[in-house]
Amino acid sequence: MAKASLEQKQIFIIHGPNLNLLGSRDPAQYGTLTLDKVNTAIRKKARELNLETRIIQTNHEGRIIDLLHRRRKWADGFIINPGAFTHYSYAIRDAIEGIGKPVVEVHLSNIYEREDFRAISVTKEVCAAQFYGKKEDSYLEALEYLAKHLNTN
Ligand code: DQA
Repeated sequence: MAKASLEQKQIFIIHGPNLNLLGSRDPAQYGTLTLDKVNTAIRKKARELNLETRIIQTNHEGRIIDLLHRRRKWADGFIINPGAFTHYSYAIRDAIEGIGKPVVEVHLSNIYEREDFRAISVTKEVCAAQFYGKKEDSYLEALEYLAKHLNTN
């Protein structure tokens, strides 16, 4: 087996705006799931896949862009839930395009079966993949995707 495939890959995970309110926010869409529970599930799956993770939540567009820029050397790949920025932030879209690392977009809810404005993702076309509609499992699918693709590159 090639040496590179044994290395622990590093994944930076960004939760965008309002995801800190999970647990009390719009239970019809997000249930009672809290961000802590999402992060616990992410860490467990990352251990199983031999991935190192860092996780941050921020409500600020510029901070998301700064994190993508600053962490691009540390990270082999990113997972991002841009929240509502998904639907209109060309600045985040351009940052994703510019960093030269694979970024996977995730959503807890099915953005294609909600209000019309949510069915548009301006970030999707520059992301390596998109997983949605499966609550915390959307993040776990993104981890599996990166584990598979980073180890074959
Ligand atoms: C979301 C979907 C977005 O439309 C919304 O603005 C969010 C959360 C999701 O995870 O389902 O904040 O990204």
